[in-house]
Amino acid sequence: MKKKPLVGIVMGSANDWDVMQHAAKQLADFGVAYDARALSAHRTPAELEAWVAKLEKGGAKCFIAGAGGAAHLAGVVAARTTLPVLGVPMPSKHLQGLDSLLSIVQMPKGIPVATFAIGDPGAANAALFAVAMLALDDANLAGQLRTFRKKQADAVRGARLPL
Ligand code: RP5
Repeated sequence: MKKKPLVGIVMGSANDWDVMQHAAKQLADFGVAYDARALSAHRTPAELEAWVAKLEKGGAKCFIAGAGGAAHLAGVVAARTTLPVLGVPMPSKHLQGLDSLLSIVQMPKGIPVATFAIGDPGAANAALFAVAMLALDDANLAGQLRTFRKKQADAVRGARLPL
């Protein structure tokens, strides 16, 4: 039986998938069920609202929203749910994602969006942050996260410089 999604991943355009796949992959690596959709805050606002409500009703614990340019998607999702919303700025064509970053990070007081780095690292880190939140009451996931960190530490320790 398919597991119910614990995380909703949404992006403003299918063109954002190249970046957002890193969030999906990271969640999959931890065995966290997610639902990923391309839904736009300005092109498909009704569908976006319905999807957020459906996921929340289905037991999702947080949302990861990736968008570029005038990146209001994460803020609109946050307006529709009290679940944590993690925003990922897309690297845009003309301003390299600085526009997306400032748009997502500058939410007015009252409706927060946790904002991550521009692009692939931000997408992966948003997923890792979601895992950390889920691990608060999931000992198995907490163990997986510790192992993940240990592997990174071991890789740094084991690195040999080309001297
Ligand atoms: C935003 O506008 C999307 O998140 C995307 O990053 C950007 C451009 O969208 P497309 O023109 O590529 O569909 O809504």
